[in-house]
Amino acid sequence: MGLISQKSFLGLFLIISVLFICSWFYVLKSTGRPHFVNSYILPKSKIIAASDNRLVVENTWRSLRFGSDRKEILKVFMYDLPPEFHFALTGWKPKGKNVWPDLREEVPQYPGGLNLQHSIEYWLTMDLLSSEYSDNFSGRSAIRVRNSSEADVIFVPFFSSISYNRFKSTEKGKNTSIDDLLQEKLVTILTSQEEWKRSGGRDHIIFAHHPNSLLDARAKLYPAVYILSDFGRYSPTVANVEKDVIAPYKHVVPSFSNDSSTFDSRPTLLYFQGSIYRKDVSGSNILLSDILIS
Ligand SMILES: *[C@@H]1O[C@H](CO)[C@@H](O)[C@H](O)[C@H]1NC(C)=O
Ligand SMILES: *[C@@H]1O[C@H](CO)[C@@H](O)[C@H](O)[C@H]1NC(C)=O
Ligand SMILES: *[C@@H]1O[C@H](CO)[C@@H](O)[C@H](O)[C@H]1NC(C)=O
Ligand SMILES: *[C@@H]1O[C@H](CO)[C@@H](O)[C@H](O)[C@H]1NC(C)=O
Repeated sequence: MGLISQKSFLGLFLIISVLFICSWFYVLKSTGRPHFVNSYILPKSKIIAASDNRLVVENTWRSLRFGSDRKEILKVFMYDLPPEFHFALTGWKPKGKNVWPDLREEVPQYPGGLNLQHSIEYWLTMDLLSSEYSDNFSGRSAIRVRNSSEADVIFVPFFSSISYNRFKSTEKGKNTSIDDLLQEKLVTILTSQEEWKRSGGRDHIIFAHHPNSLLDARAKLYPAVYILSDFGRYSPTVANVEKDVIAPYKHVVPSFSNDSSTFDSRPTLLYFQGSIYRKDVSGSNILLSDILIS
């Protein structure tokens, strides 16, 4: 233990959190407890779908607490970025000047198919939006606050994976894709915010879950905490275990049968299932296997 620096210990802690996410991923689905979610979300809405990602959402928030008291609820300030950065990318049409959907009226869906594996950007955003419709925070790990001075972290609602998946190609006669333009705009917007200047971006949370998402902007915004699927395609300066959080794909971890363990009762410290090298990556990238061994 003495050999491990505090920083790498924090990194290991993050990895462990992530592994917990992985191992818990299908528990909710397998044990079927949708009321866990419905009880504090919206009375008459269709947001019930959020239930099948409840534990991933809660565990990702927990990983973002940076070692603060784990009983505390994370206070999250979310930028009101224009819809072109988030729900409009999924096909949602804003009503009037509203930046966000009113979840009591409508629940935008995330595109299906392979897109779903990177849908953590959608789930966390929906979770923050829904946190405002109830005063009962039981079971919640994070809530949205409107004053950034009161926030623990600053949330950047750019759906970079769906932006990449849908809008990476360049239209005829143009040099840049919508995905490129959005990234460019995002960098301009973020770096001019008071919140960014205050911390240099270190308390900002940005999604880059698809390994090719945020391709240009990642190198400009890297003091921020990235939510990634792995470290396979990043330089260690841009992304590393000391600051970033790995959220699982939505469909790759099979469920445990009949497992009703709670966070505290679980006897297994580490659980990993998956590929230890990202496809299309060769060379010396550090992946999970190396971290676990070191
Ligand atoms: C808050 O929600 C929890 C379930 O998430 C429920 O058990 C509890 O009774 C609720 N509290 C109030 C005051 O409604
Ligand atoms: C935000 O919070 C800070 C610190 O609590 C306070 O000084 C400031 O007045 C608040 N701003 C607004 C707009 O409420
Ligand atoms: C696209 O880029 C090329 C080279 O970078 C430039 O010559 C050309 O004028 C650009 N076209 C447009 C439409 O901006
Ligand atoms: C799960 O529990 C049920 C009821 O106790 C049992 O019938 C079933 O065989 C169990 N499934 C597995 C895979 O252990």
